[in-house]
Amino acid sequence: MSSTAPLPPATFLYKSDPVRGQQWADVFRERAPEIDFRIWPDIGDPAKVRFLAAWEPPEQLAERFPHLEVLFSSGAGVDQFNFNALPTHLPVVRMVEPGIVQGMVEYVTRAVLDLHRDMPQYRRQQQRGEWRPLPVRPASQRRVGVLGLGSLGQAVLQQLQGMGFACAGWSRSRHHLEGIGCYAGNDELPAFLEKLDILVCLLPLTDSTRGFLNADLFSRLPPGTSLVHVGRGPQLVTSDLLAALATGQLAEAVLDVTDPEPLPASHPVWRHPHVQITPHIASMTQPLSAAAVVIDNLHRFHAGTPMTGLVDRTRGY
Ligand code: GLV
Repeated sequence: MSSTAPLPPATFLYKSDPVRGQQWADVFRERAPEIDFRIWPDIGDPAKVRFLAAWEPPEQLAERFPHLEVLFSSGAGVDQFNFNALPTHLPVVRMVEPGIVQGMVEYVTRAVLDLHRDMPQYRRQQQRGEWRPLPVRPASQRRVGVLGLGSLGQAVLQQLQGMGFACAGWSRSRHHLEGIGCYAGNDELPAFLEKLDILVCLLPLTDSTRGFLNADLFSRLPPGTSLVHVGRGPQLVTSDLLAALATGQLAEAVLDVTDPEPLPASHPVWRHPHVQITPHIASMTQPLSAAAVVIDNLHRFHAGTPMTGLVDRTRGY
């Protein structure tokens, strides 16, 4: 929805990285000048704060901001929110914006291509000064499966499918994506897993996905499958990952998320020759596109139409 009608005057409070907040402020000044956009801790009159965008909301939210109408997450996830501490009537909105999608598509494509073209193996060979070509497999013979079919999972699959990979997806609820085998629910998880070479995790963190990437799941993959983990650290049982790498059940792992974050320098996974680690940078909210999406959502909110990324609290995402 793009509306040029002015929004009702209100304070929008931003509580996240202040440098990026200045870029949000520029977009609001241009596209929603009737909104008093403020960057934490410059909150103004708390009674006028109707909207809050935060990574971590302040304590005592309802008491501090009695007229708060919507809480926006400044990131794609909402697992950092303690839902029990939020008023039950307060709508919570995930960040669904094109900048995050693009970043994730780039990161996962890079990881999948790296695995597909045996780059981890060549890096190890290089360290040994070993010149040993491996057969090149066509992408159509490389089966890539994505766990999680939200906006990120779908965009990643579309890109990989366009590059010729044999793609499949799994999620809790049924999805239909052109040309992509879609599996749904626990019953169909084994059938999804047993036909993969590369497994990508893009699940949201909820009570049912905590510890999801464990020994049982790994045992259902074909031996030698590789993992790209861009969900949330607590979804992966690290001891099970190390055990699966030791037996070759898993060939390689690319981890952008760990538990805890930052991963302590002494953690064994840092130095594992078959693990690549990046410090949770797969994708980041892009201030300009994010602010535009949030303004669009403010218009939706006032028009009474569903906001993009509205969280279903019973699902947890
Ligand atoms: C990053 O992980 C995010 O939730 O945006």
